[in-house]
This record gives sequence, structure tokens and C-alpha cells, in this order.
Amino acid sequence: MKTQLFLLSSALALASLTGLAAQAPTPPPQPAPPAPFDQAKALEQLRVQIAGHEKEPAEAVYKNIKTLRGVPAGALLRVMEYGYSRSLGVSCVHCHTPTDWSSDEKTPKAITRRMADFSDDLNAKLRAIPELTGREPVVNCTTCHRGQLKPALNLDSPGKAAAEGTRPPD
Ligand code: HEC
Ligand code: HEC
Repeated sequence: MKTQLFLLSSALALASLTGLAAQAPTPPPQPAPPAPFDQAKALEQLRVQIAGHEKEPAEAVYKNIKTLRGVPAGALLRVMEYGYSRSLGVSCVHCHTPTDWSSDEKTPKAITRRMADFSDDLNAKLRAIPELTGREPVVNCTTCHRGQLKPALNLDSPGKAAAEGTRPPD
């Protein structure tokens, strides 16, 4: 066993000495894997692109604004970052192809326009409840989504959540 190992290592040493190891076929160059989407960088680039126009209405600065007309262009990026991405627990690429932010090719973008109308309708109904006083009543994406694409239909029982590790045991 020892001799075999010795022979093997001498053979390897010899191979590298004579340059045999260097003749091993070099693997073909692999295409670089696509860089993961960098949301902070994308937002930074967009801020640079709209610099000086932040206060102008979104429809004057971007190409394809239908529901957020009148929202200042700078504030639109905050709606995207917090109102939409964060409240649904996704990044921009769930709704966008970052090479063309104006494109409507992704279904979740279309759903989002309908969800914005839906939230407006709910808010109108909410404001029509005269008995609601105190804090200004508002429904927004977070009210239902709470960081998830599919809003919950049931509250987890505390025992189940603790067993799944989603909630520390009391
Ligand atoms: C849940 C879906 C959703 C997410 C997530 C989302 N967006 Fe949007 N975005 C939209 C919709 C819908 C519109 C069009 C709004 C309208 O019609 O008024 C839009 C419009 C835009 C526009 C205007 C493009 C143009 O030229 O018309 C930009 C820029 C943009 N989003 C950037 C972002 C960035 C950056 C992120 C991530 C931080 C992001 N979005 C996340 C749904 C989304
Ligand atoms: C009153 C509750 C409610 C509000 C407010 C609401 N949503 Fe939704 N949303 C839902 C429900 C319910 C679904 C359907 C989930 C399912 O398919 O099981 C949904 C689905 C979606 C989907 C599709 C999810 C998927 O699986 O791809 C998107 C995108 C979405 N909502 C975005 C938004 C955005 C953005 C807002 C704020 C402008 C918003 N929603 C406001 C309840 C709400």
C-alpha cells in the first residue's frame, strides 16, 4: 500500500517535471453566469437617469405610466421599492425586465395595475364609513400582502408556527 502510494506520487512528480501535467486538455472557457440582479444598483442608476426631474409628474419622465399619473418621478421609485417590492416580498424583476422598465411583458405588472385600482376602490369605500374616526383609514398593498405574494387566508395557530420554526417558542 505504502509502495503504491510512493509510486503514484513519484509518477505525479515526474509528470509535472516533464511538463506532462501541463498538457492536460484545458476546459473550454465557460460563459460567465448572468450577474444576479442588484436592486440597490438598479435604483441608483434610475436615480441618476431622472436627476433634476424628480418633482415632475411620472408620466412626463417615464415612458409607460397609466395608474401612477401625477405621482412625482422621484416618489415613483419609492413606491416601487417600498410600496410594491417590499410589501410583496419580491424584487423589481418579479414585475420588470430591467433592460426595459417600461415593458409590459410580465403578468405581475399588469396584475399590479389592477391591484392599484382595487385598492383605490377599497379606500373610497373605507372613507365612506362615517363611524370610522381617529387614524385616517387606509388600505394599501401591505395591509393584505404583508411581505408575501399570496395574502394569508388564515392565521397560523401559534403551535404550528413554532413547530415550523417561524415563531420562537414562548
Ligand atoms: C409588483 C410589481 C412591481 C414591482 C415589484 C416593481 N414595479 Fe416598477 N412598475 C410596476 C408597474 C405596474 C408600473 C407601471 C405604473 C403605471 O402604469 O403607472 C411600474 C413602472 C416602473 C417604472 C417606469 C417605467 C417606464 O418608463 O414607464 C420604473 C422605472 C420602475 N417601475 C422601476 C422599478 C424598480 C426599480 C423596482 C424595484 C425597486 C420596481 N419597479 C418594482 C410594477 C412593479
Ligand atoms: C384587500 C387585499 C389586497 C390588497 C389591498 C392588495 N392585494 Fe394584491 N392580492 C390580493 C389577493 C387576495 C391576491 C390573490 C392571491 C392568490 O392568487 O391567491 C393578490 C394577488 C396579487 C398579485 C399576484 C400575486 C402572484 O401570485 O403573482 C400581485 C402582483 C399583487 N396582488 C399586487 C398587489 C399590489 C402591488 C397591491 C397594492 C397596490 C395589492 N396587491 C393590494 C389581495 C390584495
